[in-house]
Amino acid sequence: MPWPSTARRRDDGELEVGGVGVGDLAAEHGTPAYVLDEADFRARARAYRQAFEAAFEQVGAGVDVYYAGKALLTVAVARWAAQEGLRVDTASGGELAVALRAGVPGAAIGLHGNNKSDEEILAALDAGVGRIIVDSRVEIDRVAGLAAARGVVAPVMLRVTTGVHAGGHEYISTAHEDQKFGLSVTAGDDDGTSPALAALEAIVARPELELLGIHSHIGSQILDPSGFEAAARVVLRLRADLAERTGVVVEEVDLGGGYGIAYLPTDEALEPAPVARDVAEAVAAVCTELSMPLPRFSIEPGRAIVGPAGITLYTVGTVKPVTVSGSSADDETFTRLYVSVDGGMSDNIRPALYGADYHAELVGRSSDAAKVLARVVGKHCESGDIVVHEVVLPSDVRAGDLLAVAATGAYGRSMASNYNALTRPPVVAAADGASRVLVRRETVEDLLALDLG
Ligand code: LLP
Repeated sequence: MPWPSTARRRDDGELEVGGVGVGDLAAEHGTPAYVLDEADFRARARAYRQAFEAAFEQVGAGVDVYYAGKALLTVAVARWAAQEGLRVDTASGGELAVALRAGVPGAAIGLHGNNKSDEEILAALDAGVGRIIVDSRVEIDRVAGLAAARGVVAPVMLRVTTGVHAGGHEYISTAHEDQKFGLSVTAGDDDGTSPALAALEAIVARPELELLGIHSHIGSQILDPSGFEAAARVVLRLRADLAERTGVVVEEVDLGGGYGIAYLPTDEALEPAPVARDVAEAVAAVCTELSMPLPRFSIEPGRAIVGPAGITLYTVGTVKPVTVSGSSADDETFTRLYVSVDGGMSDNIRPALYGADYHAELVGRSSDAAKVLARVVGKHCESGDIVVHEVVLPSDVRAGDLLAVAATGAYGRSMASNYNALTRPPVVAAADGASRVLVRRETVEDLLALDLG
């Protein structure tokens, strides 16, 4: 099931998370609210770290697991990740600031971005980040120049595109060639030098830069793990080519994130242990084949750590049966119950943006009423404002009911907006029978304070 691991139904049918009933959560924090199961987050963080450490120890290599903060980064969440032995991957100066505020040491932070500003690069250098992932040729000069200005040597990796395309929607698949990230390993110029190899050589030639290794992220919501092995092969070959050309054997290889989760009761998540084992074995085999030493390996899961740990709690408002006539003469006419909740595309843009499917349930009570086909929609002035396209709900669902959507921990709050001047919901953590606000609810006063008239 896509619910967090401590979620369970009480005898009266009310759902609880972290030992706190959704009725109490709603009474104390209001709705809509993002609720995070802290124990679940921590367990998933540990599971990824331990699975990869164990698998790579088997083949004799070290591993670092970076939590990809873009999925959801708050001070407490960054702290949980660090306490569970993860490092933190950031994608902007803002995310970097949150990780630093949490007390994550600079050395345990990475900075990504295809268009980093000078301020962001300088902030990373000043914080002593462990790695800046360089994304283009021009950035090599910019990072080198800024490092020289600060009198430091910048630790960098190069982001490459391997031609391996994996995962869900096109917009969240990043390693195929016609997109903005990284440098291609496969496209070559006349003498067969790929843009990636040329960029690595350029980094090696700059004394202001320390080339740590090569980075590849192949996509998101990946459920078939073979893409990771394919990408590892391409990256390790590139590492061998660089060694042959320059004598430099880079130590690190990062394969990014993308580990898929269950959004629906029928989905099966990718399990970390078998993926870790397969990738570790592939890395070891390719290194033997190429007569290369094993790299230090790293990954950057985001969704797989925080996605299943979070739910969104809503209150039902307007409920409206809509008669839907079939598109052809043979199609039957049916009724779909439109269940409106007090949030929508401003707190979860993924259905509208990617056509993502979610699962919702009535969570404040049980119901013996017959089940009906329903669609959960938000309160925005847009018909595409759909929270759950299709779900079966009890026919007596009514205004005031609490409804929860599962697996919204990743990319819900982090991509939330103020569309229609709705205020962004709070992030609430539940654990051991108590709840705590991690990020407070925005108020209309907050919005008005930004508007200088
Ligand atoms: N590392 C890099 C370099 C990435 O670009 C990403 C995601 C990750 C790690 C984490 O990927 P994850 O393990 O969370 O799949 N907004 C989209 C996802 C875009 C992800 C972009 N990069 C969504 O809502 O599905």
